[in-house]
Order: sequence, then structure tokens, then C-alpha cells
Amino acid sequence: MYAFITGASSGIGKELSILLAQRGYDLILVARRKDRLKKLKDSLETRYRCNVILKATDISKEENCLALIEDLNQYPIEVMINNAGFGKVGYVTEQDLSDNLDMIKTNLIAPHIFTSWFCRHAKHGYVLNVSSIAAFTTPPLFSVYGATKSYLYHFSTALNYEMKRQKKPISITTLCPGSVKTEFYKDGGKQSNICILSARTCAELALDGLYKKKALIVPTFSMKATYLFCKFMPKVLMLPMQYFLQKSKINS
Ligand SMILES: NC(=O)c1ccc[n+]([C@@H]2O[C@H](COP(=O)([O-])OP(=O)(O)OC[C@H]3O[C@@H](n4cnc5c(N)ncnc54)[C@H](OP(=O)(O)O)[C@@H]3O)[C@@H](O)[C@H]2O)c1
Repeated sequence: MYAFITGASSGIGKELSILLAQRGYDLILVARRKDRLKKLKDSLETRYRCNVILKATDISKEENCLALIEDLNQYPIEVMINNAGFGKVGYVTEQDLSDNLDMIKTNLIAPHIFTSWFCRHAKHGYVLNVSSIAAFTTPPLFSVYGATKSYLYHFSTALNYEMKRQKKPISITTLCPGSVKTEFYKDGGKQSNICILSARTCAELALDGLYKKKALIVPTFSMKATYLFCKFMPKVLMLPMQYFLQKSKINS
């Protein structure tokens, strides 16, 4: 059986790819950096004797997503992981509109296309949609990113329920981590040093929850505490708190 993973060239997606190869899956790996994907393919095929198919493509382009799903029809996919994404900190009025539109397309439109395709065509399986704790925090200065992750959380949670109602053996799990040590902040601002999780641990906790068919995974105790705090905190307090937190991440 195959696992399909977007954003496999680094961070959480790369670790998920390694763990799924260890579990005996053949892989379809998606990202733009072909050299990184090729290196990962070579190491996984040698180590785990799996078949790794590379799709070096930019999923912020709707036509690339549609071409990909056309191609996916030929593979028996059991696990679909929508992990590719990026975020940029700053005032919307000072950000590049096309950057923000690319963020919306990568973080939201692409996972929407892939998830709905999978739910329509797969006979059974597991979907992991990588959202963020930012789905719950309404973060000013990270507003577009937060909104995309919020969409992904609500869409995935509701669709998971629809699958149950339709008695389809497909579970959709939303992963909402806080800070994870990856390349995420390489050009998107400074990462806060509080409670940073390794990408490997995040991936392990994600797969554990995925196979338990959990609707939501918020990894680690401190991230769960943050999630609960955000859930019950009034917006009037949350907005300034998040504003100052995000402001501290802007590169000066
Ligand atoms: N790190 C954190 O603190 C954190 C916290 C919460 C949620 N998350 C979420 O976790 C997910 C993975 O991020 P990460 O932390 O592992 O960061 P990362 O190391 O920067 O990985 C992001 C991945 O997404 C791929 N990607 C980005 N834009 C793409 C595009 N247009 N087309 C195809 N692939 C694209 C990148 O590959 P290429 O550049 O090669 O295309 C890369 O493989 C993201 O959705 C992020 O929002 C991260």
C-alpha cells in the first residue's frame, strides 16, 4: 500500500515519510525541491526496500494539484498526509499579496483538493491534515496563516464526521502542533524558544494518533494546555496577547 505525503523534503513531512517507510509503505512524496526528495528517496529505498515515487511540484498551483490527483488514481493509497505549508509573520498591509495568496493556496486549497479526492475515491484509509495550534489563537501579525490553519481544522473535523455518517471507513485526523524545530521559520520570522518539539517526536505522536483514528491531535502536555487556554480565553485578551507574541517573532 502507498502513503502520499506533501511537504516531504524537510521537517515534519520528512520524518513522517521515514516512519511510514519503516512501517512498510511505498511512498509518493511531494515538494518543490527535487534534490532533497531524490536524496530521501535513495536513502529510504536502500534502507527499507520500499518503492518511492517523487512528484516535484508546486502545490500552490491548482493545475498542479489537479494533475497530481489524475496521476494518483493508479496507486492504492491508504495514508494521505497533507503537511506542506508555510507562514509569514507581519502586517497584512505590508505583506506581498501574491505571497499571501500562495499561502492560502498551499495551506488550504491544496489540502482541500487532495482530501476531498481521497474521501471520494479511496475505499478505506487515513488522512492526516497538518494544521497548527494557530488554528485556535486568531493571531494578529500571523493572520493569514492562522486563518488557513483554522479552515483546515474545521474542514477536516467536519469531514471526519461526514465520513462516519456515510459509514465510510476513512478517518481524518487534524494535527495541531505548537512550535516544532524545522525550517518553518527560515524566512518567516523568529521561532520562540518555548517548548519546542522535535520534528521526529511530532511525527511519531501524529502517526500514533492517526492509527487510533483520533479526530484531533495536539501533541505534548504543554501544547494541550495552550490549546485549552486558547479555547476558553476571551478574544479581548487573546488578541493583544497574540499580537505581542507574534511581534516578538518579527526579524529586526
Ligand atoms: N514548525 C512549526 O513550528 C509548525 C507548527 C505548527 C504547524 N506546522 C505546520 O507543519 C507543516 C510542515 O511544516 P514544517 O514545520 O515541517 O516546515 P518545513 O520544514 O519548512 O517544511 C515545509 C514543507 O512544505 C513544503 N512546501 C511548502 N510550500 C510548498 C509548495 N508550494 N508546494 C509543494 N511543497 C511545498 C516544503 O517543501 P519545498 O520547499 O521543497 O517545496 C517543505 O517540505 C506546515 O503545514 C506547517 O504549517 C509547523
